[in-house]
Amino acid sequence: MASTPRIAVVGSANTDLITFSDAFPRAGETLFGKSFDLGFGGKGANQAIAARLCGAEVVMVAKVGSDLFGEATIKNFASFGIDTTHVQVVQGASTGVAPIFVEPNGQNRIIVVKGANDRLLPADVDAAAALLRGVDTIILQFEIPLATIYHAVRFARAHGIRCIVNPAPALPANLAELTGADYFIPNETEAELITGHPVHTVEEAGACAAALLQKGFRRVVLTLGARGSLVADAAGSVHVPPFAVATVDTTGAGDAFIGSLAVFLAEGAQEKDAVARANLYAALSTTRVGTQKSFPKRADFEAEWTRRAQQAR
Ligand code: RIB
Repeated sequence: MASTPRIAVVGSANTDLITFSDAFPRAGETLFGKSFDLGFGGKGANQAIAARLCGAEVVMVAKVGSDLFGEATIKNFASFGIDTTHVQVVQGASTGVAPIFVEPNGQNRIIVVKGANDRLLPADVDAAAALLRGVDTIILQFEIPLATIYHAVRFARAHGIRCIVNPAPALPANLAELTGADYFIPNETEAELITGHPVHTVEEAGACAAALLQKGFRRVVLTLGARGSLVADAAGSVHVPPFAVATVDTTGAGDAFIGSLAVFLAEGAQEKDAVARANLYAALSTTRVGTQKSFPKRADFEAEWTRRAQQAR
């Protein structure tokens, strides 16, 4: 590795309100849940923390509200050593929140109330330009205004910075504005919503990725949950298998994948190896409850990677 990767996330920060329950109420019904967890989340923030835990220097560009959650969010970034120069408080706005419901099998359902995330504008990318010009990779997701994402993609392209777009959650977007990205990384649901192609099998994932390449993307990675990932470019596609783990909560696994992948790629790992590593990093995050607090430290990840490699011999 030549030097420490420098990653910027232009994206969201939320407070996650996670309820674990065996069943969920119908309209008009009240049920008792099993347990509750309050934590720092938001797809952008989660990706930033994953990248930081994997060893990158990280710059966060985000907006939070003028409430307790906003102040705590900034402190949380700082406690990890993330550069918060461009995490700003919007007076009178609420910090993004995400009520999350987790089923016994670890599957989750999320409602995001974007709050201050919706106030992150193209001008905020310009204000952070001096810092952004110095990073290896810019990561973007869909919990901030699309105009800001399009602007950041153009910025990355203009400055020769690797750009990863994670279209989560899926929204109707102008794909032509995103094809300047180096990597387009949706999950099965997002890929299906964007292309109209079903993604129930690895074969269908291949067809869906081909449809995305047809739309102009250069490299596509489809994350397939318990089925691993699929990487596709003009040369073809390759399935990168999953790792078996005891899953308790899948929330944030996609973010763990993106943040860690950005670091492995910036360190110079071969693409398929970087994706395999990100598969394991994401899988390990599902073995613990919560989003950021479930992400492993780099040393723990490496120990597990080595252990599994030895077992496979
Ligand atoms: O991807 C998981 C994240 O989605 C949660 O942290 C929640 O805040 C929503 O943004």
